[in-house]
Amino acid sequence: MEKEIYLTGDRPTGKLHIGHYIGSLKNRVAMQNEGIYDPYIMIADTQAFTDNARDPEKIQRSLVEVALDYLAVGIDPSKSTIFVQSQIPALAELTMFYMNLVSLGRLERNPTVKTEIKQKEFGESIPAGFLTYPVSQAADITLFKATKVPVGDDQQPMIEQTRELVRSFNHAYNTDILVEPEGVFPPKGQGRLPGIDGNAKMSKSLNNGIYLSDDAETLAKKVKSMYTDPTHVRVEDPGHVEGNVVFTYLDIFDPDKKRVAELKEHYQRGGLGDMKLKKHLLEVMEAELAPIRERRAEYAKDMPAVMAMLEEGSKKANEKAEATMKQVRAAMGINYFG
Ligand code: TRP
Repeated sequence: MEKEIYLTGDRPTGKLHIGHYIGSLKNRVAMQNEGIYDPYIMIADTQAFTDNARDPEKIQRSLVEVALDYLAVGIDPSKSTIFVQSQIPALAELTMFYMNLVSLGRLERNPTVKTEIKQKEFGESIPAGFLTYPVSQAADITLFKATKVPVGDDQQPMIEQTRELVRSFNHAYNTDILVEPEGVFPPKGQGRLPGIDGNAKMSKSLNNGIYLSDDAETLAKKVKSMYTDPTHVRVEDPGHVEGNVVFTYLDIFDPDKKRVAELKEHYQRGGLGDMKLKKHLLEVMEAELAPIRERRAEYAKDMPAVMAMLEEGSKKANEKAEATMKQVRAAMGINYFG
């Protein structure tokens, strides 16, 4: 039986953090291990260039870090094709054709892109490639005929844009070769992990993230410095659970939900100190992150093997992409020479 294809990816602009892990990586590994999917996982370096065009070293550096992060969390190259976006020329080709099927106005309404444009302070100089990256992302997804796209909640508009482009393409060229994908989103309440400072977003620029590559000592330091409840001054004071990062993390990382409920109750009543609570969180997080960290270090010992894995994955992805591109050219009537 032909397996269903899922495709997803990340921009290589830094190491991946536990927000990526909770929001998407965990889903991908689970889906990979279900055995019913043929996963394609892409390091989106081309997309990283849309806002880092003048910093190729950062992209190069991050590419290997992201590859290591993938392997560390359990993405298995014998089950998943891990590849590099820039090595697939057909992606650029399909993007060019999609570009004619979407209006500038439509692109300007993409809420995720809008937010990013504000954050990045492009001013009057928004790179054309950045505004149009959802078009290239639609090519990423559809060239592999992915039916599922496991991503974070912020990627919802990209999936919607992709679905629209598939309908436009199939309609314009009277074909059904392209497939409308569906997003696979994180479980409710786990879509976004706040930073350790309580900021809603975990990001490098805010320096409030926990990285999959952080060593045990760094993790301990970060958990100790976590934002809790500023009104909870003495141990015996009653404390707040809402907006308390330690509890947000416990809800996600502690498999023992009954224990979390008891801790919340104790904290609200008073008598449970932040230090004790954080010590517990650290234990729970260490249990999940230590094996990831160890696997990462193991893979990092042989970088040539990691690069060879990416090269092989890219080769395989290229074959798949070219096969679809042939159909695209035929549908568009540009297969002039057979
Ligand atoms: N936009 C995604 C991010 O910012 C990366 C990405 C590029 C992607 N192409 C994709 C995700 C295709 C899913 C499917 O991380």
